[in-house]
Amino acid sequence: MKNIIILTGAGISAESGIKTFRGSDGLWENHKVTDVATPEAWARDPDLVLRFYNERRKQIREVLPNKAHLALVQLEKYFNVDIVTQNIDDLHERAGSSQVMHLHGEINQSRSSIDENLIYDIVNAEMKIGDQCELGSQLRPNIVWFGESVPMIEQAIPLVEKADIVIVIGTSMQVYPAAGLLDFSKPTTQIYNIDPNSVMQSQQKNLSIIKQKAGVAVPLLVRELLNNN
Ligand code: APR
Repeated sequence: MKNIIILTGAGISAESGIKTFRGSDGLWENHKVTDVATPEAWARDPDLVLRFYNERRKQIREVLPNKAHLALVQLEKYFNVDIVTQNIDDLHERAGSSQVMHLHGEINQSRSSIDENLIYDIVNAEMKIGDQCELGSQLRPNIVWFGESVPMIEQAIPLVEKADIVIVIGTSMQVYPAAGLLDFSKPTTQIYNIDPNSVMQSQQKNLSIIKQKAGVAVPLLVRELLNNN
């Protein structure tokens, strides 16, 4: 079976009703990154940070996977599929994808603020000041903030290296190290980019740019890949 790696960003969840980060009305137009998504913000005002992520979690729990998330599941019948997402939502899992790696953490998890290996599922929607890990430290969202390292990248790189096909969906590819992942693909790897505002350069012969919304383009591409398999 061929190996397909799917790199997703906020754009794949846009049609489910979750805001993207950049662009007009993006999340970072209405919230300052430095107020809510950095270790400094957490040190300065943890209550504000918790409220920001409590709101994100509530919104995510109210929405459903869309046609793009659902179509990707079909690929698993005939390909080895790994999804590497920058998203903190769980829409790939709820759609039914079986191998999903979250580079930037997960909204439904908390973790110890003194031991990053102590990770817990968040059962109730809200995290509060006073919620503690088993070592007695305040729990923080299990989110990779700006300025923090992205440990999962080490596991994502070999997946891209062995990929026969890479599908990049709904990410502006502005945030490293995720944005550098394509550099690890083989010269023969076929790459697809689905994004109405794709900024990728199409000189490369193995790159197909599909400037459409994920909900339209992903089901079509999945059907094509399954038919040509
Ligand atoms: N279908 C496909 N792509 C879409 C759609 C759609 N319906 N709607 C928007 N897009 C595209 C936009 O054109 C844009 O290129 O999705 C992309 C979203 O880009 P960003 O908002 O920058 O989101 P992302 O790339 O996921 O951000 C990366 O930045 O703030 C951090 O940690 C956060 O994981 C996030 C990271």
